[in-house]
Amino acid sequence: MADRLSPEALNQLFLDARSFNRWEDRPVADETLEAMYDLLRMGATSANCCPARFVFVKSDEAKARLKPHLDAGNVEKSMTAPVVAIIGHDLAFADKLPFLFPHNQDAKNWFANPAKAELTAFRNGTLQGAYMMLAARAVGLDCGPMSGFNNAGVDAEFFAGTAIKSNFICALGYGTQEHLHPRGPRLPFTEAASVL
Ligand SMILES: Cc1cc2nc3c(=O)[nH]c(=O)nc-3n(C[C@H](O)[C@H](O)[C@H](O)COP(=O)(O)O)c2cc1C
Repeated sequence: MADRLSPEALNQLFLDARSFNRWEDRPVADETLEAMYDLLRMGATSANCCPARFVFVKSDEAKARLKPHLDAGNVEKSMTAPVVAIIGHDLAFADKLPFLFPHNQDAKNWFANPAKAELTAFRNGTLQGAYMMLAARAVGLDCGPMSGFNNAGVDAEFFAGTAIKSNFICALGYGTQEHLHPRGPRLPFTEAASVL
């Protein structure tokens, strides 16, 4: 049996973790992004399909390519962030199943139906995006997730010639309290859950 995490760890992952809009002027090392990826990749996906693909927009040049596709309210918070992750999912994820799910070489064929492949990619890619946010916090980063952008525009700019579709983006860095509104309430267990 694993022990419950310490209060400090729970604060870092959940209780004190916020969605940040402004950032310290402090770079994020590529090694930190790799450490984050090495954690998130262990999160569960169906048939271990691992459909998420990540682009870490870090350079001024890459940020300039992202900027025109952002909703107006997301421009400053993204452009001032050290990194903006584009979380996408590969509709052709099944091609890698012979490697990822080696004990059943037939698994690739389970996703021959494009609608099933798309649903599976979106579901598991979204899960992996959430794993990314928790992994980011685990390595000491803060997150600013955003869905306010033009997905088709981002796909054409960053994923042309592939079967990868963007899902959401997430600023990564070291957040500041600036522009941080009070924490919103959450639904209590009795309203959001039932035990049957
Ligand atoms: C998938 C997703 C999309 C979001 N899109 C935006 C967005 O486009 N712009 C924005 O300012 N905040 C966006 N948010 C931030 C949410 O409003 C924020 O996470 C929520 O209010 C909870 O805030 P807290 O984490 O500080 O408690 C998004 C969050 C998620 C998870």
